[in-house]
Amino acid sequence: MPSGRAVLLVTGAARGIGRAIADAALAAGDRVVAVDRDTADFGQSDRLLPLVCNVADPQAVAATVQQALAWAGRIDGLVNNAGIGRPAMIDRMTAAEWNEVLEVNLSGSFHMLQAVGRSMMEARRAGIGDFSPAIVNIASDAGRRGTVGQINYGAAKAGVIGLTMSAAREWARHGIRVNAVSFGVVATDMTAAIRTDRFRDTYLQQIPMGRFAEPADVVAPVLFLLSQGAAYITGQTLSVNGGYDIHA
Ligand code: NAI
Repeated sequence: MPSGRAVLLVTGAARGIGRAIADAALAAGDRVVAVDRDTADFGQSDRLLPLVCNVADPQAVAATVQQALAWAGRIDGLVNNAGIGRPAMIDRMTAAEWNEVLEVNLSGSFHMLQAVGRSMMEARRAGIGDFSPAIVNIASDAGRRGTVGQINYGAAKAGVIGLTMSAAREWARHGIRVNAVSFGVVATDMTAAIRTDRFRDTYLQQIPMGRFAEPADVVAPVLFLLSQGAAYITGQTLSVNGGYDIHA
């Protein structure tokens, strides 16, 4: 999956990277459950179900997954993409800023992984669906290299990588693959500040390929990890960052 007939649930699908993933899966003919805390105009398609949900709320997540299952019967793929940043230097970060980022980026990924994973196990037991289920969690180089001014975000994304490896180990025997992708800087609303004149050159100097990613650059690696081409890949974190992590 996605292969033209699969069911994909994408969180944070209203804009940015999540929107690009949802659009690509729809264009490939898949059915897409587009989950976001905000509403968005996705256009009309009988293969699209937009649902409003805060992924940090486990009850809302459980209800959302039930709505998705009532609509599609099963979920073949999950992309845990919803994320936020609340930047502050360590000495000035409030407990609220710390907690909010952990709750959305890490706990939100857990709640959705747990709820969708349960449904994948049930579907497999019941023999529903032709696809091998797979999950992709969106991590970040901030979770592997650290980051200045976003300790909450770096810790949450490192947690996402740990979550990925643990779920991959636990669910391999259920046929569920779980991987992560680690982005550097992708040109979305989230990175508008980084891409201003003040910071742009500092970041670009650290990227061997010399440019920021566009959302289109990061879609295909996510879809690959969901696909049968990645049937023997689990528990991995794939760098999609123009070589940022190999920069000296
Ligand atoms: P964005 O800010 O453009 O979009 C994020 C989407 O997530 C928005 O539609 C927002 O409404 C939704 N969202 C936020 N909190 C939510 C919640 N509690 N429940 C449901 N939906 C929620 O961000 P972007 O750039 O598209 O980021 C997507 C993912 O990629 C995030 O996990 C982010 O941390 C990660 N990432 C982004 C990078 C970048 O350079 N843009 C770099 C590395 C990772």
